[in-house]
Amino acid sequence: MGKIKTLDRRKFLKFMGYGSALVMASPFLEACSSAAKVTGAQGLGATGATGLVGSLPPTTKDQLTLLEGLTYNVVASWGDSINGKDSFGFNNDFIAYATAPKTAAAKAYDEFLWVNHESTNPFFVSRNLAPANKTPATDKPASAKPKSVAQYQAEARSVGGSFVRVARGEGQGENANALYSLKKDPRNFRLDGLTQIPFAWPKPIAGGRFAKGTLANCSGGQTPWGAILTCEENYDEFYGEATLDDNGKRQFNDNSRYGWTAIAPEPPERYGWVVEIDPWKKQAKKLVALGRFAHENACVVTAETGKTVVYMGDDRDNEFIYKFVAKEKQSLDEGELFVADTINGVWLSLDWSKQPVLQKNFAGQTEVLIYVRKAARLLGATPQDRPEDLEQDLKSGAILVALTNNKSRENYLGQIAKIEELDGHEGLRFAFKTFLMGGHANGFACPDNMAFDPAGNLWFTCDVAEQFIEKGAYVGFGNNSLFYVPMSGPHAGLPKRIATAPTDAELTGPCFSPDGETLFLSVQHPGSQSTEAGYTSHWPLGGDSTPKPSVIAITGPLLKTLTRRA
Ligand code: FEO
Ligand code: CA
Ligand code: CA
Ligand code: CA
Repeated sequence: MGKIKTLDRRKFLKFMGYGSALVMASPFLEACSSAAKVTGAQGLGATGATGLVGSLPPTTKDQLTLLEGLTYNVVASWGDSINGKDSFGFNNDFIAYATAPKTAAAKAYDEFLWVNHESTNPFFVSRNLAPANKTPATDKPASAKPKSVAQYQAEARSVGGSFVRVARGEGQGENANALYSLKKDPRNFRLDGLTQIPFAWPKPIAGGRFAKGTLANCSGGQTPWGAILTCEENYDEFYGEATLDDNGKRQFNDNSRYGWTAIAPEPPERYGWVVEIDPWKKQAKKLVALGRFAHENACVVTAETGKTVVYMGDDRDNEFIYKFVAKEKQSLDEGELFVADTINGVWLSLDWSKQPVLQKNFAGQTEVLIYVRKAARLLGATPQDRPEDLEQDLKSGAILVALTNNKSRENYLGQIAKIEELDGHEGLRFAFKTFLMGGHANGFACPDNMAFDPAGNLWFTCDVAEQFIEKGAYVGFGNNSLFYVPMSGPHAGLPKRIATAPTDAELTGPCFSPDGETLFLSVQHPGSQSTEAGYTSHWPLGGDSTPKPSVIAITGPLLKTLTRRA
């Protein structure tokens, strides 16, 4: 869900009143003036004789709109039964594609999707809260009404993730012509906010070896050994936050948005981790070695030495970019964590045994990893504009970083930056550059999830928080959208709007099938600002229906053209 932290009143009034003119005047963006300047390429239409693709205009329609040459069907929606006992969770986000190990009898590989369920919405899920979302002016947590244990459990079961079989061309009834549909299967399973999950670490975390559940599962990643990584992001909305103050004393801040702390409090230290899943064994573990923060995703790269390196961002105003270098091949249980100083282009080690300032302020490596934001700040890491996805451009090897916005620095539109390692992925030096600026010239604001297609082109989604769509700095951008950026040819570097989301929604988790002929996409939080007075969206079923977060499959001749390998 779009995360906007509380703005002070002065900044909020500036944002609402002055919009992008003020943004362009901000010192921060002036510092980025070397960014690519491109001309907006508006205009309808799919690829013509030139082979160039057009761009959808912005819209505020309550529809999932696609550029001509593309079609979609809904694969799975909140509440769908996945195996006879479990159901598909709420607010789907990251999607990973996997094929089952092939058996001798099978004609083809069975196909599966892992889907994150990032957040819940008591208005729909437990009928506890009205209105459904945050108050627009302050974005402060809505005050939850007292909640029953059953309501807490319903909300806890709606987050986490789903592993589901999908099949081509086997739709039934209204979905008869569907490209992909959900298949009930005994291999399907859920992880949710109540599943007991161990920590992959020799010492206890907040006195325990297990966490109750995984939650705030935003984006993720996949490893070369077939594991899925799901990232716990805005965990403080569930059980609050714990930090170490300047004297090393633990401070608990009960900023739970859902009121869970009043029902079943858990130590916040057990959330904010990357979780590794073996989907075929239905097992999961929390990877303490990768640090605890608001993890957006995990960009897994195999270094020149064969070691696994994971790039990660902390999606919070003025937090940091990290990378992890694994100790052993095929394991993320141990390794060295680094944080980025993007001003000097160096990775700073978060190894307690190497850093006197960490030895002075922390009892040991476990404490460094639990309160890693404090450790990174002490080392002089560079505050960022809310890092969302990091993804590797396989053609250049560079790591792109979506920096969605930073209202505390009056950067409302965000940008995509680029890390170019100078000594390989295990090295300590890098160049940090701007790749693409948000703004009307490029047609987008607040970049978030990214994916490269099999042809090497970039696709990214945008996340303007629903309460700000078509307001202030965001006037003219319309509903959240999916963009395609050709990486070569005459339109290289020019974003094209390919899809637009229904009312209040955000498009998340873009994921290509290996042949590039299908794009799986999450439509998250349609109608999230609904109240008892009425729903703000009726997507996907239309009429007077309840809006439902859903995963869709996009296909069509245009997708084949755009994603074809050269
Ligand atoms: Fe869940 Fe940073 O988006
Ligand atoms: Ca989201
Ligand atoms: Ca976001
Ligand atoms: Ca995101």
